[in-house]
Amino acid sequence: MRNPLLLLYFPLVLSFSLTSSVRLTLREGSSLSVDKPDDILTSEDGAFSAGFYPVGENAYCFAIWFSKPSCSIHNCAVVWMANRDRPINGRSSKLSLRKKGNLVLIDAGRTVVWATRTESPSGSSRKLLQLLDTGNLVLRDKQHIISWQSFDSPTNTLLPLQKLTRNTPVVSSRSKNDFSSGYYKLYFDNDNLLRLLFDGPKITSVYWPDPWLNSWQAGRTTYNDSRVAMLDPYGNFTSSDDFIFLTSDYGAKIQRRLMVDHDGNVRVYSQSEGEEWMVSWQAISEPCAIHGICGPNSMCTYHPKDGRSCICAPGHARESLSDWTQGCKPKFSSFCDSKVETEFIKLPHANFYGYGKDLYRNFTLEECKKLCLGMCNCLGIQYNDSVCFPKLKLLNGRHSPSVTGDIYFRVPKSSLPSYKIPKIEYAALQCPGKEVLLPRTYVKTNRSWAIKILLVFVGATAGMEATLVLIICCLLYRNRPEKDGAHIDGYHMGPTGFRRFTYDELKKATRNFSKEIGRGSGGIVFKAVLLDCRVAAVKQLHEANQGENEFLAEMSTLGNLNHMNLIDMWGYCAEGKHRLLIYEFMEHGSLAENLSSLTELDWSKRFEIAVGSARGLAYLHEECLEWVLHCDVKPQNILLDSMYQPKVADFGLSKILKREGPKDSSFSRIRGTRGYMAPEWVYNMPITSKVDVYSYGIVLLELVTGRSPRGGLANTEGGDENESKRFTPWGKERRRTGVPMETWIKEIVDPRLIGECDNRKIEVLVAVAVRCVDENRDARPTMSQVVEMLLHYGDEDDTVQI
Ligand SMILES: *[C@@H]1O[C@H](CO)[C@@H](O)[C@H](O)[C@H]1NC(C)=O
Ligand SMILES: *[C@@H]1O[C@H](CO)[C@@H](O)[C@H](O)[C@H]1NC(C)=O
Ligand SMILES: *[C@@H]1O[C@H](CO)[C@@H](O)[C@H](O)[C@H]1NC(C)=O
Ligand SMILES: *[C@@H]1O[C@H](CO)[C@@H](O)[C@H](O)[C@H]1NC(C)=O
Ligand SMILES: *[C@@H]1O[C@H](CO)[C@@H](O)[C@H](O)[C@H]1NC(C)=O
Ligand SMILES: *[C@@H]1O[C@H](CO)[C@@H](O)[C@H](O)[C@H]1NC(C)=O
Ligand SMILES: *[C@@H]1O[C@H](CO)[C@@H](O)[C@H](O)[C@H]1NC(C)=O
Ligand SMILES: *[C@@H]1O[C@H](CO)[C@@H](O)[C@H](O)[C@H]1NC(C)=O
Repeated sequence: MRNPLLLLYFPLVLSFSLTSSVRLTLREGSSLSVDKPDDILTSEDGAFSAGFYPVGENAYCFAIWFSKPSCSIHNCAVVWMANRDRPINGRSSKLSLRKKGNLVLIDAGRTVVWATRTESPSGSSRKLLQLLDTGNLVLRDKQHIISWQSFDSPTNTLLPLQKLTRNTPVVSSRSKNDFSSGYYKLYFDNDNLLRLLFDGPKITSVYWPDPWLNSWQAGRTTYNDSRVAMLDPYGNFTSSDDFIFLTSDYGAKIQRRLMVDHDGNVRVYSQSEGEEWMVSWQAISEPCAIHGICGPNSMCTYHPKDGRSCICAPGHARESLSDWTQGCKPKFSSFCDSKVETEFIKLPHANFYGYGKDLYRNFTLEECKKLCLGMCNCLGIQYNDSVCFPKLKLLNGRHSPSVTGDIYFRVPKSSLPSYKIPKIEYAALQCPGKEVLLPRTYVKTNRSWAIKILLVFVGATAGMEATLVLIICCLLYRNRPEKDGAHIDGYHMGPTGFRRFTYDELKKATRNFSKEIGRGSGGIVFKAVLLDCRVAAVKQLHEANQGENEFLAEMSTLGNLNHMNLIDMWGYCAEGKHRLLIYEFMEHGSLAENLSSLTELDWSKRFEIAVGSARGLAYLHEECLEWVLHCDVKPQNILLDSMYQPKVADFGLSKILKREGPKDSSFSRIRGTRGYMAPEWVYNMPITSKVDVYSYGIVLLELVTGRSPRGGLANTEGGDENESKRFTPWGKERRRTGVPMETWIKEIVDPRLIGECDNRKIEVLVAVAVRCVDENRDARPTMSQVVEMLLHYGDEDDTVQI
């Protein structure tokens, strides 16, 4: 996976090996220029170099890196950066040692982005800049008096002999490829202890040494207030709080560096001549003990094979698909706002650190639950051996066999059965053969697939770093952990989670495919009852002539989508020619069915359906997976749950049903349903997410008028074809002729609803719909703009612009 990436990103793999003209010092009045690749300062022994290091497209930082053995541009071990948070342009930028003795970094010949405050008042001071053999860049005069040194301002690395002091914390970089300041910090605290802190956008939390230990339990002392720590060249680290360690290769004098890594761990890396960098010490052995990886309402899990991952608490959905530090958000409203009945779901071996209210000893579980139910802001309890902690926030979650104690999540009782309990990994290993996990290896081994995705991305986006981040996040988060059942106070939750089913299993579950509940885009849908008693909808695809690997790749993408307004996919089956998808079953059927019935769908429900489906589509389009277009948005594909909350169904199907045509043009044939299709399909224009926006606009008009674009009442299939022509541009004509809105709204509104409707809501629905069905795709809003417009319709008194 890495090779194709790097090749694309760094078409020129420049080598930083020593050039013939080695420059050892920089004198007053001279400068190093980003335009000249040879403008590099080198230490006398050649071990370190300082110069402009590329950190992105046309973005450079002035940096120091290990240059022995020589490294190519993307794998040098960078140890320091002057301007990590303000990269400079790749043209006309330079580092100058001015006559007055100050060093300045100038971006594009204009702005000073970084400077040393070393001007001497008396004019010329005869300073020079030199990179010492220790990796320290110093500004000194003839008498070797140092007025500035890079060792005094570490970034994410501490070199041997470089002191970590009270004023100089070491801060991780954001990620492997993003060198800007990250969230993890190694620093001396007010009590003189050396600590690790996660200092994120939402929470701040110390996680090393273990926060529940006091200083002597952790083997530290607080009395020495000199607050200084250092690694010596032999691998002996000593800190003034008595924290001491020796690296595993202690003794040899080889290259070393101590780094606060972007994953929040502190490691010492060593490199002997001609070898790779090796980890010779690390602070934390249990990856989930690091805070902040998984944001609020999520838990960290670790599996030796798959590494670290995060899972949402039951009843929660990811805040951002690309960034787990954002955590998860509840799918239900706050218990303080709504007086819903609540219940608890138990998750054994789990823990959320901190933010408990108080600690109550000698409580039975029942008493503990009662205590929590009595507080509207209590989100759950941690219960361990008669100790009860009600939790007001779910932060720093961890789920691991080594954790003692259980978590009881508080959730609304009404939707209890639909919540998933995340499974603890080792449980899966105890019953092999029962569940077939989604094969993970193909992602890694089959490069052709990865490259294909890559090309799609590169073609679609111009911003290269954005692309890189997208790809990485998509690949990293493909595999969400399996989920498992657990007892919930009497309820038994069967094994849930995304998985592969066998055909036989589905045959049984659907009773030989006997109960058909629908037909549509590419397949027939059957009702099924799974072994664990969950009711499911099984879609048998009849046109999926995709190869198995390709199908699996799609599945693992779709299985990862998790949003309250997208239908939950439970699994799939790929056996021989059979391709089946297993979804949750929606009791209220589709919006189409319900629009055609005469009652129930009142205005507030219709409005909620509009907002909810827009949210679902926005998530599809604008989260990590821009390429999951729906391509068949219509009322038949918007399903309603027991609370009439909409869930978009059949997303991603357009890619699976790759019907014909050359392999790479996946949209070789018109997709969708007549009446809902954007003009791009007809005029053979590029297909973007705006085709879904168009179809959504038509659905909105249908919600308002109760009439389908195919004529007659909604859902009467096969109506007049030319009806659709009349349906769409009609809103626009009205708009041009300037008929007052109130008048024409009466004309168009679903006659079944006259009298009960809220004009403002209708106005905003119509206004948004008309913008969505614009012939010009660039004039259509994005789905997230649609959500915004719908939600803020009531703000202030401004009239809706249409
Ligand atoms: C490590 O350094 C400390 C402080 O300099 C010293 O007291 C200690 O003996 C050293 N340990 C070893 C094994 O050399
Ligand atoms: C405090 O720590 C520093 C650095 O390890 C050491 O040099 C100094 O002697 C210590 N002071 C006391 C009072 O122990
Ligand atoms: C715990 O509660 C029980 C009954 O309420 C009581 O008998 C027992 O002494 C208590 N134990 C402690 C350690 O307080
Ligand atoms: C749970 O209780 C056990 C025994 O009292 C204790 O060792 C453990 O640290 C506790 N776990 C947590 C997470 O508090
Ligand atoms: C990888 O893809 C090739 C075709 O591109 C296919 O022949 C091969 O079987 C695939 N390998 C795996 C492990 O799926
Ligand atoms: C399904 O069909 C098979 C034969 O095709 C039959 O033996 C079996 O009893 C059927 N099962 C059900 C539940 O109808
Ligand atoms: C919506 O459609 C479903 C399935 O046809 C039906 O069971 C339900 O009663 C309908 N609801 C309303 C309000 O018409
Ligand atoms: C269009 O509508 C007219 C009148 O409603 C009808 O006579 C005609 O057959 C329709 N055309 C098509 C193609 O359905």
